[in-house]
Amino acid sequence: MTDTLDIKITQTPTSRLAETDFNNLPFGKVFSDHMLVADYEDGEWKNFEILPYGPIELSPAISALHYGQAFFEGIKAYKHADGKVSIFRPDKNAIRFNKSADRLCMPQLPEDIFVQSIAALVDIDRNWIPGKANHALYIRPFMFATDPFLGVTPSATYKYIVLIGPVGPYFSKPLRVKIETHYTRAAEGGMGYAKAAGNYGSSMLPARKAAEEGFDQLIWTDAKEHKYIEEMGAANAMFLLDGKLITAEAKDTILDGVTRDTVIALAKDWGITVEERKVSIAELIEGAKNGKLTDAFGAGTAATIASVASISYNGEEYFLSDPQTREFSKKVLATLDDIKYGRSEDVHGWNYMV
Ligand code: PLP
Ligand code: COI
Repeated sequence: MTDTLDIKITQTPTSRLAETDFNNLPFGKVFSDHMLVADYEDGEWKNFEILPYGPIELSPAISALHYGQAFFEGIKAYKHADGKVSIFRPDKNAIRFNKSADRLCMPQLPEDIFVQSIAALVDIDRNWIPGKANHALYIRPFMFATDPFLGVTPSATYKYIVLIGPVGPYFSKPLRVKIETHYTRAAEGGMGYAKAAGNYGSSMLPARKAAEEGFDQLIWTDAKEHKYIEEMGAANAMFLLDGKLITAEAKDTILDGVTRDTVIALAKDWGITVEERKVSIAELIEGAKNGKLTDAFGAGTAATIASVASISYNGEEYFLSDPQTREFSKKVLATLDDIKYGRSEDVHGWNYMV
């Protein structure tokens, strides 16, 4: 750890907390009173400031807007019954933040500064953390290039901003997912492992087409052959096949998810065999037909553990068992919630206390 981060704090004179409807929290639409902003200039991070949430002024020529030098993270903070506040594994996001920065020729942000800056913002707006089950404070740190220059070259200046806001469940029901065999999210040598803004922009057309066909999410497949499962929308795809937990290995086309890593750790705690490897569409379809595919879900910070109701492939829809009867994902969700909300011992040290 370095010394305590020096942050200038300007509190809002007019909190919006009292007028916020905590019974209606659509994902990503409600923001707390404050945000954190910092600048990268002359080769260093400076001007760390917490100030009222609101618009910022930028040149229309910033290279983030033109060439996509921009990436983000997603983290959650939880309120425990005794009022304590924890952030779930922000150290992992700090590492991934810098992997994304590296891939996009953007500056590193020291991991302890990342964690401290987030904790300081969460602390100031701790009253915005919902106390209800399945609710949390979503934390969105991001960085983007701010040079007003149209040359295709890495910017010399950047902004780091953190927004936070209360959220309820991302998905309201088990998902009908379509295995995508035309569009590609990521190819080897590309930037699938980075949380680059452009990865999400490119996912919107295929996602919209799938939605028009009635599907809730896509399962991405490998760019070369479209034979192997990669990810599920903005979550890692995980399956229980023949009693083993299987998921694509975290290589350069896959976002190395914190939730994925957490689920793997729990499975290993419980003595379940975990296989991080190529997962073929063929073995999943076979498992769906013969009943050996007993669980399927997306794992992500926003998504939490999102059950898959059915998998569609080449126009055929394969329904899986009733999600309510699935032992593994139900146990994962319950165990994780107990840790995140402080109801059980945090044996892995996943909660960062604010
Ligand atoms: N894969 C993609 C493409 C994502 O956007 C996300 C969401 O963050 C994940 C996987 C899951 O990652 P994590 O569990 O770290 O949120
Ligand atoms: C997250 O789970 O934090 C994500 O980043 C998903 C988001 C794109 C909605």
